[in-house]
Amino acid sequence: MSMTDDDLLARADAAASRAYAPYSLFHVGCAVLTRDGRVVEGVNVENAAYPLGVCAERTALSRAITEGHRPGDFAVAAITASPCGGCRQWLAEMGVDRVVFRNGGRVVTMTVDELLPEQFQPSVLPE
Ligand code: THU
Repeated sequence: MSMTDDDLLARADAAASRAYAPYSLFHVGCAVLTRDGRVVEGVNVENAAYPLGVCAERTALSRAITEGHRPGDFAVAAITASPCGGCRQWLAEMGVDRVVFRNGGRVVTMTVDELLPEQFQPSVLPE
């Protein structure tokens, strides 16, 4: 059975309930669908030293990399909130095809090029 964007967003919604966000009280969930049909979830994890908190997208993508997935393996990322600027850079680096997220009561679908035009590319780095 294939996973629709709505299904994936529902997984992100369910994950958000497990966020650790005692400071902002803003719970975020992310569910990433790999090309081979696996779903990897992440939540935001905050810290009393505020800047050390981690966004849900980065948690999910870090977990996916840890499990053996590589950049380019990701078809869709569903997020319960609009991705922040830093997470847009992560989504670009990971080569996610499509990003689906809630924003002000709407569900928005965009490519990473739309989310982050003129992005910083690893190809500019010295070899
Ligand atoms: N947050 C995310 O998890 N992802 C985003 O893309 C936007 C912001 C989290 C970070 C922080 O824990 C909380 O939302 C409030 O900014």
